[in-house]
Formats: sequence, C-alpha cells, structure tokens
Amino acid sequence: MSDPTRIWSTRPETGADIGAIHTINAAAFDTEAEADLVHALRADAQAWIEGLSILTQTDHGRVVGHALFTRCHVDGAPALALGPCAVLPAFQRTGAGAAAIHTGLEKARHMGENLVLVLGHADYYPRFGFTPASGFGVRAPFEVPDEAMMALALDPSRPTPRGTIRYPDAFGV
Ligand SMILES: CC(C)(COP(=O)(O)OP(=O)(O)OC[C@H]1O[C@@H](n2cnc3c(N)ncnc32)[C@H](O)[C@@H]1OP(=O)(O)O)[C@@H](O)C(=O)NCCC(=O)NCCS
Repeated sequence: MSDPTRIWSTRPETGADIGAIHTINAAAFDTEAEADLVHALRADAQAWIEGLSILTQTDHGRVVGHALFTRCHVDGAPALALGPCAVLPAFQRTGAGAAAIHTGLEKARHMGENLVLVLGHADYYPRFGFTPASGFGVRAPFEVPDEAMMALALDPSRPTPRGTIRYPDAFGV
C-alpha cells in the first residue's frame, strides 16, 4: 500500500464528504478532538473559507487525507491557520498529506492569501517552506516550543503582520 512516489489527486470538500472527514481525523489522532474541531470550524462563518478544506483521494475516489485552512488574525490582519492535517493510518507516509497541503497552499496563493501559520511537527512542515513564526515576529497565544509554531509567506514580496495570533474561537485558545 505504501508508495511514496504515488501521484495523489486532491479536491476541495463538498457536503457529501463531512462524514469521511470526521473518520479521517478521528483515525489519525488519539481522540476525536480534532474531528470535532473541524465540525466547529465549519459552523463558524468567520473562520471557514470555502474551498480551503482539501481532500486527498485514491484513484477510486476514496477520501484518505485532509488538510484544513481557516481564517485567523495577526495584529488584526487576516492570516490562515493550517490544521488539522490528517491521513488515514493505512495511507500515512505515502504523500497523501503533502498532496493536500500543497494543493491548499496553491489555492490560498491564488485567492490572494499570504501569511499561513501552522503549529505542528517541526520536521514535517519545513518541506513546504514553513520556518519558525518567531522569524516573522509572530507568536502563539500560548506557550509553545519556538520550532513548533511555524509560518510561511505565500508571496514573500508582500509585508506580513507581526504580533500574537488570534485563532477562531473553535480552537479554544
Ligand atoms: C502528519 C500527517 C498529516 C502527514 O501526512 P502523510 O501523508 O503521512 O505524510 P507524507 O507522506 O506527506 O510525508 C511523509 C513524511 O511525513 C513525516 N511525518 C509523517 N508523520 C509524522 C509525524 N507524526 N511526525 C513527524 N513527521 C511525520 C515523515 O517525515 C515522513 O517522511 P519519511 O517518509 O521520510 O519518513 C499524517 O502522518 C497524519 O495524519 N499523522 C497523524 C496526525 C497528525 O499528527 N497530524 C499533524 C498534526 S501537526
């Protein structure tokens, strides 16, 4: 099943995918907290951005991976929060997560977004261009190891806001 050279197809979620997305997040994480977080974010019109909940699917149309980008703010300026990212355990390390993240970043760039923030594995997200958010003058609103809070400017020629991240309420931080 594991084939890191596999070419995955990706697409935005539709209403028909909500159950599958719950299943993926519940399976990828230890608890259902992330799966429930996705529902809460989808219900928050301030946070949800149509077209930036990205799925990875097999050739047969089975949805196996998910990457979510929602609206957050830094110093009152809009930015994107990436996460949760989740892949069904049987399909992890086959590029399914990377495919969804790459697609989401490209879509966001085309939508005119710039600053993207992610809290996660410091050995995973740098491959997409993320670097420590501290280098952007951006801080998490809670204590976190410097290398785990990361940021990416989709258009490095544009200025990015500095300050503390304000996450959507659903994150509970
Ligand atoms: C993290 C996750 C979304 C990555 O998706 P993926 O499709 O498995 O990963 P990709 O195939 O795109 O990339 C593979 C690389 O991811 C990295 N990776 C995967 N899971 C990782 C983890 N838990 N910690 C650190 N690195 C991880 C590895 O470096 C791997 O590289 P390798 O093949 O050289 O070992 C997926 O593994 C997952 O759902 N994990 C459980 C939930 C989770 O931790 N989500 C992220 C929260 S920040």
